[in-house]
Amino acid sequence: MKKRIAVIPGDGIGVDVTREAVKLIRCLSGAVGVEFDLTEYDYGAEKYLRTGESLPDGALEAFKGFDAVFMGAFGDPRVPDMKHAADILLGTRFGLDLYVNHRPVRLLAEELCPLKGRSRDDVNFVVFRENTEGLYVGMGGLFKKGTPDEVATQVDMNTRKGVERIIRHAFAYADGRGLSRLCMSDKSNVLTYGHDLWQRVFAEVREEFPDIESRHLYVDALTMQMVKDPSQFDVIVTCNMFGDIVTDLGAQLQGGLGLASSGNIHPGSAAMFEPVHGSAPKYAGKDVANPLGAIITVQLMMEHLGFDRAATLIEESAIEVIARKQVTKDLGGSLGTAAAGDAICEALLRLAS
Ligand code: NAD
Ligand code: IPM
Ligand code: MN
Repeated sequence: MKKRIAVIPGDGIGVDVTREAVKLIRCLSGAVGVEFDLTEYDYGAEKYLRTGESLPDGALEAFKGFDAVFMGAFGDPRVPDMKHAADILLGTRFGLDLYVNHRPVRLLAEELCPLKGRSRDDVNFVVFRENTEGLYVGMGGLFKKGTPDEVATQVDMNTRKGVERIIRHAFAYADGRGLSRLCMSDKSNVLTYGHDLWQRVFAEVREEFPDIESRHLYVDALTMQMVKDPSQFDVIVTCNMFGDIVTDLGAQLQGGLGLASSGNIHPGSAAMFEPVHGSAPKYAGKDVANPLGAIITVQLMMEHLGFDRAATLIEESAIEVIARKQVTKDLGGSLGTAAAGDAICEALLRLAS
């Protein structure tokens, strides 16, 4: 069996960590008997600055021909408006209608959690972030720019279809995995225009899943509860903007942005995987970035592709290298990016044999 994966390292540490993710995918081939055919694309700031091209015409069509797309990170100080990143990253999310942003928050080792006395079981939930609507659609703009009367607007666009499909996906995921607790989070006490819709759809969809204990939290209260007692969550579903914010908080509960993974998925059609972190320009090319976020993102991609043994092996290997302190400085180790990538490949090959 051969699986085709498109790889776009992008900018900054995206390049450093993607190199390690690719190394791991190559190791996996031997370990699980699946051949991966990787095709790399150089989309990113460098190409954009050189040619003016961000996401070329036809790129999305090409992505559709792959079993999955893997991206590193985008963002470069030489492109302050992030135009290329918006075109590539948001362009792919919107263009392929990847409405599910699946972001696991899973603690791999107790000592990585910044909260006192929390076990691995206490920090183990999934955030489903709506990924194609909300404040991210780019509706709005500036009026009388540069004058004392300047006005700036950004529209929070929520559709019935968009809200319903992400809420239903979150319930179905919980249902399918035997997870009993689901929390929908919004800010409907203030944002009545769109968030009233979230409340109504939530009330309807929850009726279809009577076995799931579902509840609602305003997003400010959600952030507080995530810190106070993360063990109360199995599945969280929220809008695009709030999902972005709460998953950086979730990343830190696991030990930092260097460990957080995400999948952008249109079930049954297309998927793109990327670590949650950005391009961290100050660390770019310095062999310091933690590759585990990208590698755990490969784990999520393997689960999506149906390679459960590969996914389990990656997680076990990550737990092992963390226990052995064969990790980068952000996790208290002393390895560089490449050596940390080598260590996890060695662990994986050992565990697989
Ligand atoms: P960032 O995630 O790049 O970095 C924030 C901090 O988190 C870093 O300074 C570092 O301390 C830590 N960190 C992140 N990834 C790490 C890793 N792999 N190993 C070790 N430490 C890590 O966020 P930022 O500084 O706010 O943004 C930098 C650029 O990245 C901006 O241009 C931003 O827009 C962009 N960005 C892109 C994505 C993406 O492509 N998916 C995501 C977030 C931010
Ligand atoms: C993320 C990032 C992106 C987002 C940015 C870079 C557009 O922060 O993937 O979490 O806000 O979705
Ligand atoms: Mn983010």
